[in-house]
Amino acid sequence: MQALIEARHIVKSFPGVQALKGVSFDLYPGEIHGLVGENGAGKSTFIKILSGFLRPDGGEILVHDQKFHYLTPHLAQSLGIQTIYQENILVPQISVAENIFVGREITSSFGIVNHREMLSRARQIIESLGVNLPVGERVENLSVAEQQLVKIARAIAFEPKVLILDEPTAMFNVNETRMVLDLVKNLAQRGIGIIYISHRLEEVLEVASRITVLRDGYRVTCHNHKEEKVDLAALTREMAGRSVNLFQRERGFSSKEVVLEVKNLRYSPSSPPVSFMLRRGEILGIAGLVGSGRTEIFKALFGFTRSHGGEIWIRGQKVVIHSPQDAIRYGIGYITEDRQRTGLALGLSVTKNATIPSLDDHFRGLLIPLRDERKRVEEYVKNLDIKTPSLEQEVRFLSGGNQQKVILARWLLKNAEIIVFDEPTIGIDVNAKSEIHRLIADLAQRGKSIILISSENPELLALCDRILVVRHGTIVRELTGEAMNEENIISSAFGVTAGERVRQSS
Ligand SMILES: Nc1ncnc2c1ncn2[C@@H]1O[C@H](COP(=O)(O)OP(=O)(O)OP(=O)(O)O)[C@@H](O)[C@H]1O
Ligand SMILES: [Mg+2]
Repeated sequence: MQALIEARHIVKSFPGVQALKGVSFDLYPGEIHGLVGENGAGKSTFIKILSGFLRPDGGEILVHDQKFHYLTPHLAQSLGIQTIYQENILVPQISVAENIFVGREITSSFGIVNHREMLSRARQIIESLGVNLPVGERVENLSVAEQQLVKIARAIAFEPKVLILDEPTAMFNVNETRMVLDLVKNLAQRGIGIIYISHRLEEVLEVASRITVLRDGYRVTCHNHKEEKVDLAALTREMAGRSVNLFQRERGFSSKEVVLEVKNLRYSPSSPPVSFMLRRGEILGIAGLVGSGRTEIFKALFGFTRSHGGEIWIRGQKVVIHSPQDAIRYGIGYITEDRQRTGLALGLSVTKNATIPSLDDHFRGLLIPLRDERKRVEEYVKNLDIKTPSLEQEVRFLSGGNQQKVILARWLLKNAEIIVFDEPTIGIDVNAKSEIHRLIADLAQRGKSIILISSENPELLALCDRILVVRHGTIVRELTGEAMNEENIISSAFGVTAGERVRQSS
């Protein structure tokens, strides 16, 4: 069989970094080819070259036996290559259908956009994907997972031969992930060649027939996973260049002292009241499906959005939080799940981004020599293994996972007493992930109180003292001790008992 794409010895440098050091790769029709590697290994750079967004410094790309030194976005598209990037490219204010056809609107012979035709074509594409999406709805009203499906539908509308997905399930819960994995398998069966990038290695191991491992811009190996099964331990070892131990926390430290108590908080006029408390040195897990209201509850608590009634008590004092500044003043730090929209100032340096919200620290900062601040940033850059050529690098040039680590560094520097982590390890490679777990556990050990919102149940189970499960905007269950297990989290999150679940799935 002829390869759809063959890349030979691709080389690419950025100022201060050699991102790709001679990477070869090929892709066949109907194949799912996994591409894995640590944060900053060069995965996104490589696929941006295949889709014509970056020009390589060396090497060649063969597409249907035609040889190219580089592609342009237009050329890649006309050769049937479609890419779904880590970054969001949708236009929030227009509908699903309009997003699918943006830039090539269906028009009548007079050049007038034919909305009805567009809606029906969009509906067809979405149906053919076997998913459910409201085509007329504005994209900003969709969940993150639904937006991802729109991106896929948009790519499929081009009838591609090659589909490249850069971390398509990073924000998804179990069900949504299942949907995307099945969709990807289905597309491969139609003969589309798929390049699948993910830090969720279990997913890659499930769907991929071959798996290429990148490390520091080199191709370490390409496994023929279909024929010789490769396992998780081997993959992580190849990614890191050493063996890796997953972090396991020792528990039983948290004190009796209550640092935060939330009573009957509502994040919208119609949402149910939420009450819970948090102790000093405790890691409190928040489980629940994406869209269950977890994030909304904590956005209201942090003053990002207005709360509608309820009380917040911090260390025994009733407080009013109207804005993130208020929350910061009361010692609450919030690490958002949406790093691109609310987390980072993309045009500023690593140091600036790491130190931005240290608002009050900053006033004192007039006294703290800048050198000290830099030193602390440097320390976290090292501890978190943030790959950047310098502390002055603009964060938009960092890889996705490394941007996430900069946000973490910020709050670690900030020294908040109560820290809310919303999906802290999304898009973070396995090794850095256990490093982050260790840091979170350390914070608790040092007497900080942690709220950990996560869709990854193993992450919650490895770290938390208690787990609250959120469903339909409120806490439906508290799990402690023996009851903290995956089965209980899932059944409460879905609102069914274990027995019912078995009946439903059989
Ligand atoms: N436009 C750019 N300018 C400067 N450096 C860049 C640019 N794009 C990427 N880099 C650097 O190239 C290296 C590879 O980045 P890349 O985004 O390809 O990593 P990745 O494997 O996709 O990582 P992640 O898993 O975190 O998404 C990193 O060191 C990154 O900082
Ligand atoms: Mg990337």
